[in-house]
Amino acid sequence: MTQQVHLRFQAEALPEALSEAAFARFDPSAYPSRTVEWARAAWEARLCDEYRSQVALTLLLADLTQEGFSFDVLGAAIRVVRDEARHVELCRRMVLALGGSEQIDGEVAHVIAEGDTGLERVLDLTIGFLCIGETLSARLIAAVRARATDPLAHAVLTEMLADESIHGQFGWTVLELITPVLSAPQRRAIRRRVPKLLRQMKAAVDDSAGDGASRNPFGALSGRERTRVFERCVEKDIRPRLQRLGY
Ligand SMILES: [Fe+2]
Ligand SMILES: [Fe+2]
Repeated sequence: MTQQVHLRFQAEALPEALSEAAFARFDPSAYPSRTVEWARAAWEARLCDEYRSQVALTLLLADLTQEGFSFDVLGAAIRVVRDEARHVELCRRMVLALGGSEQIDGEVAHVIAEGDTGLERVLDLTIGFLCIGETLSARLIAAVRARATDPLAHAVLTEMLADESIHGQFGWTVLELITPVLSAPQRRAIRRRVPKLLRQMKAAVDDSAGDGASRNPFGALSGRERTRVFERCVEKDIRPRLQRLGY
């Protein structure tokens, strides 16, 4: 029963190019087996990342609800969670199409927001996962997508890119809403927290750099390219926006 509900729910939001039938038509034997193996590992890592996003943003939705945010903020947050569930599903389909399993390996349990109050946790996830994480994620997906020549992989990355940029904007909007009501010590705490969140993100980018391959029809970036995207994004997008808000 749940599988049927899940698949119908996903089908409502997905174009024909990303339907179950489209994935069923995919033929991995059109590519050399080494290419497919490399791509499968890369998409497994992406699946794990998207699942982490789904977990983190579900926690954010719960805290926003508990803190009594307005209906439009909650509605947008529900959309973000639904988007992440769709990204998980798309990555799962991609992994299966490339011959993998739907069992997710990797650590997701440590998605814990820092903070004793709901508001502090909202700030932590908004800044760490949305403002920093999603702004960077949109840049990275755009760079990977530019390299993806396989039509199915390209279509998946296009779908994800459109959502991730909305998620980043949602984060900045929530941070702008909260900032005026914060006390001076609360703002100081954020200014202290930001460098740590940026270091964590840098470590995640370095960790996911893979084996350095930058060419694969299913989308790839070398470690150096990932670092360059990260540094440009922090300098051009993230720092200026944080500074405008006083952080
Ligand atoms: Fe996502
Ligand atoms: Fe996202």
